[in-house]
Amino acid sequence: MASDAPLLETATLISREQVAPGFWCLGFRSPRIARAAGSASYVAVDVPGVFSVRLPLGIWTTRDDEFSLLFREWGDRTRRLARLSVGSGVSCIGPLGNHFSIPVKGSTALIAAGGIGIVPFWLLTRELRAAGVNVRAIVGARTKAHLNGVAQLREAGADVTVCTDDGSEGDKAMVLDLVKRVHAANVIYGCGPLGMLRALCAHASENRIQCEISMEETFGCSMGTCWGCVVPVRRGSQQGSGYPPSPRDSRTYDFARVCVDGTVFPASDVLWLEAYA
Ligand SMILES: Cc1cc2nc3c(=O)[nH]c(=O)nc-3n(C[C@H](O)[C@H](O)[C@H](O)COP(=O)(O)OP(=O)(O)OC[C@H]3O[C@@H](n4cnc5c(N)ncnc54)[C@H](O)[C@@H]3O)c2cc1C
Ligand code: FES
Repeated sequence: MASDAPLLETATLISREQVAPGFWCLGFRSPRIARAAGSASYVAVDVPGVFSVRLPLGIWTTRDDEFSLLFREWGDRTRRLARLSVGSGVSCIGPLGNHFSIPVKGSTALIAAGGIGIVPFWLLTRELRAAGVNVRAIVGARTKAHLNGVAQLREAGADVTVCTDDGSEGDKAMVLDLVKRVHAANVIYGCGPLGMLRALCAHASENRIQCEISMEETFGCSMGTCWGCVVPVRRGSQQGSGYPPSPRDSRTYDFARVCVDGTVFPASDVLWLEAYA
């Protein structure tokens, strides 16, 4: 499902917390964006003092007029954002992107989150619980120090199992190992590293389970105009209809823009071509 037209709003930074080494949670007052956000929504942030394109970050939580961002410090934009003073105004465009679909009441949903890929799932869990859907979540990270948001996901109503690559928290396992042990899911939702998403899509296809994934690419404009964020999708897929074919184009697939056609895609529509995977 697509979002309504995005809004341009100056969000006021109201809280700033380092939740783990290199990971930050920033709270913003931004009434129009906070109230319009849904699962997998993101904002395009014009980080003050940076001469660059807007920084895309997923909306982690919302409450009334406020939303929060949970992010890892990577480079200049995320470093500067993390160091803004409370009270600063930040220009945001959002909520951007489409949403996960919600199954019928009484279904069981399985969330598979790898690392910072947990971000779309607080809002999704809230929506699923409100719709009477049971929510199980497998949350994995490299180590305990890279795990974030587990307590909040539990508070939102998910039955969470944790795993780490090195066993420093929860099971010593990969997310997909634990996903394969859950047999009761009617639908699977995934977000995380590309390798994990690719394996998750294969698992869902082999077991004929409905699956949707939220994808991440390097974004330029975040507005659908630069075509810098495309992924190959099955020809005929609704989300891949906008790319203009060139006259001698021999492709048998389409391109979809992650920024505006996604970020959520049905697993069955995403093509894992070697050049893109
Ligand atoms: C729709 C969308 C939603 C996103 N939501 C979140 C979110 O909620 N939380 C979050 O932490 N991130 C999120 N990201 C990723 C975030 O936008 C990147 O971390 C950001 O581009 C880094 O910006 P920067 O300017 O700080 O670093 P850059 O200057 O862009 O990069 C610095 C260095 O880090 C590397 N790098 C940057 N991002 C990544 C990455 N994701 N994985 C591995 N290496 C990387 C770069 O290659 C470069 O070497 C999202 C991305 C998209 C497209
Ligand atoms: S980032 Fe420009 S089209 Fe998606």
